[in-house]
Amino acid sequence: MASSLILTGFMGSGKTAVGEELAQRLGWNFFDADPLVEKHLGMSIPEIFEVHGEPGFRRAEETVVKGLLEEAARSQEGAVVSLGGGAVTIPAIYEILMKEPLVVFLDEDIDQAFWRAGGGERPLAQDLESFKSLFLERESLYRSVAKYIVDTRGLDVEQVAERIVKLIHERTGIL
Ligand code: S3P
Repeated sequence: MASSLILTGFMGSGKTAVGEELAQRLGWNFFDADPLVEKHLGMSIPEIFEVHGEPGFRRAEETVVKGLLEEAARSQEGAVVSLGGGAVTIPAIYEILMKEPLVVFLDEDIDQAFWRAGGGERPLAQDLESFKSLFLERESLYRSVAKYIVDTRGLDVEQVAERIVKLIHERTGIL
């Protein structure tokens, strides 16, 4: 069984960009959960929220994330998995993440995260105040599933990836 390096954190924390960079550096497969949820239901995330509501989105997200973590674990090659920011709020996914050894929380400045994620199509990133309070509601979940926490403030994608590889290498000898 191969390793899965799982990136978690709030919207706009850079999970997708850092995941792609890590997968490239390590020569591992890359799985990005959000586009797979869109593919699963055949619509964009805003459409899923509109048609099925947030509960419908979470049900699809649970199915997709469970499937991709199983596929990643069965694969002969390593995998980097970037989760959507709300995946930790799904109890079954939270339980899986608690047992996974390589879960990394990207701890980004909240204003910076909103600058990246806000004002666009993300249904839960429409205004700064509710964005901030949603982060505060979830912060303890990100911290409790994380085996590694990376403070990404002021770092670019390459620097974050480098820090993750270094941290995991120092602690486990792998990577
Ligand atoms: C969400 C985060 C989004 C996406 C959806 C809901 C959330 O993913 O899954 O809009 O609840 O935090 P990103 O974290 O990749 O933006």
